[in-house]
Amino acid sequence: MKEYIDVNRKRWDELADVHFNGEFYNVKKFREGGIAISDLEVKEVGDVTNKKLLHLQCHFGKDTLSWARLGAQVTGVDFSSRAVSLARQLSKEIGIEATFLQSEIGKLDKTNLPSNSFDIVFTSHGAIYWLPELKKWAEMIAYYLKPGGFFYIAEGHPMALIFDDENETDFRVRYPYFHQDNPLDFDYDSSYASGDVKIKNTKEYGWIHDLGYIVNNLIDAGLQIDFLHEYPFVSWEMFPFLKEKEGWWHLPEEYQKIPLMFTLKATKKGL
Ligand SMILES: C[S@@+](CC[C@H](N)C(=O)[O-])C[C@H]1O[C@@H](n2cnc3c(N)ncnc32)[C@H](O)[C@@H]1O
Repeated sequence: MKEYIDVNRKRWDELADVHFNGEFYNVKKFREGGIAISDLEVKEVGDVTNKKLLHLQCHFGKDTLSWARLGAQVTGVDFSSRAVSLARQLSKEIGIEATFLQSEIGKLDKTNLPSNSFDIVFTSHGAIYWLPELKKWAEMIAYYLKPGGFFYIAEGHPMALIFDDENETDFRVRYPYFHQDNPLDFDYDSSYASGDVKIKNTKEYGWIHDLGYIVNNLIDAGLQIDFLHEYPFVSWEMFPFLKEKEGWWHLPEEYQKIPLMFTLKATKKGL
């Protein structure tokens, strides 16, 4: 596993800088103000004023700092040292207080942060695909949440991840739906957000986790599912034939609708 994670970390260290300086994430505009999180997520998460929020896989902190702009006390975690140092830099530049920790998600434990200390644990859009397993992940979420606190995720739907993302016209099954320990491996010299910039660290490993695996690991860790919503749009250009409208990528009119994204909220029992 370590070998896969190390390869991914190298790639994400490079992507952190490329994304920070590229157009997709539009850091220039973010510096001037505004919230990088969609209205849908803001509405589903609810009021975060004075809430302690832990953001898993925070990249260079744009979403984390958006939650801070909405009133939360935020901590972001990412395994990329470049992402974390850019997040700290951005927080300083815009004068918003935040804590950023460098840690692999699988290595977050009692030594990193105190237990029962967060009202909200948040993660989103292209996060869990990079994690080899979700049992320890769910246990760690439950460990950090206060009783009565909740976990929220907005993520690419695993059902959609099985289709060939290079097919220009329609859905062809290319990847297995069910969670498996062996990763999918790819060699790409670009990323969803790198524009024309060529990436040197081309190798990456990922894991598709089926919806049952995600939900049941959260339940087994002691969380109670509040909702599971499925949407026929997603936050990135998952397939070449999707059409962008108001920040979401949709299927063209003539296509049968399938879920491209899900959101889930789950509460830690005990209150
Ligand atoms: C697609 S980005 C997250 C996107 C985020 N929602 C955003 O748009 O800013 C995935 C993040 O996960 C981090 N990551 C990948 N594997 C990880 C791991 N095993 N532990 C911790 N962070 C990891 C990467 O460094 C990257 O910042």
